[in-house]
Amino acid sequence: MSERVNIAVIGAGRIGRLHAEHLARRIEGACLVAIADVNGPAAEQCAAALGVSKIFQDHRRVLDDPQVQAVVICSSTDTHASIIADAAEAGKQIFCEKPIALDLKQIDDALAAVKAAGVKLQIGFNRRFDANFHRIWELVREGKIGEPHLLRIASRDPAPPPIEYVRVSGGIFLDMMIHDFDMARYIVEDEVEELYAVGGVRIDPEIGRAGDVDTAVVTLKFAGGCFGTIDNSRQAVYGYDQRVEVFGSKGMVNAENNTPNRARLATEAAVREDLPLYFFMQRYTESYLSEMKAFVECIIEDKDTPVTGADARVPVVMGKAARLSYEQNRPVALTEVS
Ligand SMILES: NC(=O)c1ccc[n+]([C@@H]2O[C@H](COP(=O)([O-])OP(=O)(O)OC[C@H]3O[C@@H](n4cnc5c(N)ncnc54)[C@H](O)[C@@H]3O)[C@@H](O)[C@H]2O)c1
Repeated sequence: MSERVNIAVIGAGRIGRLHAEHLARRIEGACLVAIADVNGPAAEQCAAALGVSKIFQDHRRVLDDPQVQAVVICSSTDTHASIIADAAEAGKQIFCEKPIALDLKQIDDALAAVKAAGVKLQIGFNRRFDANFHRIWELVREGKIGEPHLLRIASRDPAPPPIEYVRVSGGIFLDMMIHDFDMARYIVEDEVEELYAVGGVRIDPEIGRAGDVDTAVVTLKFAGGCFGTIDNSRQAVYGYDQRVEVFGSKGMVNAENNTPNRARLATEAAVREDLPLYFFMQRYTESYLSEMKAFVECIIEDKDTPVTGADARVPVVMGKAARLSYEQNRPVALTEVS
């Protein structure tokens, strides 16, 4: 494999444009050669901004292009599984945004296609590459807090998405908490065997009418004995709240929110700092860059990718188990849905 990988981005929406910009400008080993989007103007605008000359509407045209060695799939979730299968068949290396699909059979079919083709697949669970959470993972792994006993994840968005989005999102457990399920497995390095979910509508009754909840708590039982809690809210009035804590036999490690600066104002009235970074595009920019650097490096050095197809499947199983638990108001073993 050459020292530079020719990559195409499929889907030039919010996250596709960000990955495209990183590939074009911030990753030495990458060369962004094509953009595809069913929405022609979206592809054209993205390509023009980054000086890319190949623009397609149909992703299959990208896959027919021998110059393209790898694809970064950032189209809507319902297209991921079939584009993965097509890309694998075409022999392209694949990065795909989370989730592969909300249906386990579709995920399994896509993973089978990747395996049959022998190509690489990395999934966009970017929070693993966040400096705070990666450091927590390292410290837990090094045994600095001893045996993990408790994991606590707070993950709250600054504002709910549009109601049209909520209706097709798969619900809070599969759309939002899926990142936290991945984080839980990543940090504790163990699998959850059973979970219990409670949830309700505390923010917007429209979300309830769309069949979803906007506030939820899930407790986790890991195979090795650690317990965890994840709480999600669709609206934290002070901004994007992203905190993790692991407590163990020898200590505790935690990460607070990232703010735009480290300045603190202390007066006789109060000690104040700025609000957390507003949302994921600001908070996780560097993690999106790091995950893409890792993907490109895996291709150049012919290594296994750090977030695999198996990592894509389990959080979807957890999301389905959480929904079932919420609906039936009882603990659910993951084996019930997997
Ligand atoms: N990892 C993360 O933190 C993160 C953040 C945001 C979005 N995502 C995921 O990325 C994906 C895209 O999300 P978004 O917010 O960028 O959505 P978006 O709606 O802004 O963009 C999706 C783009 O894909 C295009 N598209 C749809 N079907 C296509 C097809 N068959 N071929 C080519 N292009 C197609 C659309 O025209 C649109 O421009 C979703 O799966 C989402 O879950 C992940």
